[in-house]
Amino acid sequence: MWIDVIAVLPEMFSSAFEYGVIGRARKKGLFTLQVHNLRDFTEDRHRQIDDAPYGGGPGMVLKPEPIFAAVRSLLRGWTKDREKVVLLTPQGKRLDQQLLVELSVLEHLILICGRYEGVDERVREQLVDEEVSIGDYVLSGGEIPAMVIVDGVVRLLEGVVGSRESLIEESFQKGLLDYPQYTRPYDFEGIKVPDILLKGDHQRVKEWREKKARERTAQLRPDLLEKWEGSRKR
Ligand code: ADE
Repeated sequence: MWIDVIAVLPEMFSSAFEYGVIGRARKKGLFTLQVHNLRDFTEDRHRQIDDAPYGGGPGMVLKPEPIFAAVRSLLRGWTKDREKVVLLTPQGKRLDQQLLVELSVLEHLILICGRYEGVDERVREQLVDEEVSIGDYVLSGGEIPAMVIVDGVVRLLEGVVGSRESLIEESFQKGLLDYPQYTRPYDFEGIKVPDILLKGDHQRVKEWREKKARERTAQLRPDLLEKWEGSRKR
């Protein structure tokens, strides 16, 4: 997979993907990430990327020309099932595991990071395939949301996370929260590991984990449990 990011503050990405699972995947060439400075696509002397909003009001708006120039230079002209342009904005579709899975099957993903008060509407209308928000809160720019997407998408790529099983087992992939996990020591400050996990009865461990995952989801995220039960009935 090839990911291009268009950012006002590309420096923010410099060390974000050098470490851990994602860093290793990048070194192994399992994906390519290129971060582009929006200012490099300006043509004026001042390298201006923003301007005051028509009609007045506070703040600045990202100008259309540099964003159009950047995206046009990066697009390969493939079909939408292989290549997508995504704008990070609080107005977008809320990111969830399902959306990450959909993005992870693309061959080419272009992420545009918004900043300031907004982005010229013509970018949204003419250039962008999907607007994505990472949650109902406002950050100072789309750079961190773009990092969230890169991390979430890359770990779904073949060969990045050790076993496919650990991905499939994962809470949000299945629609339930995780079951409780324990490791050594058996007794930590008087709190012991549940005995069922020590007996080597895989079937009973599986049942216990399912029960715990359901209990925890019911308690903390009843909305998820409802969705999960609905999907099991179909
Ligand atoms: N830019 C600012 N806030 C954002 C959010 N919550 N999601 C995506 N992009 C953003």
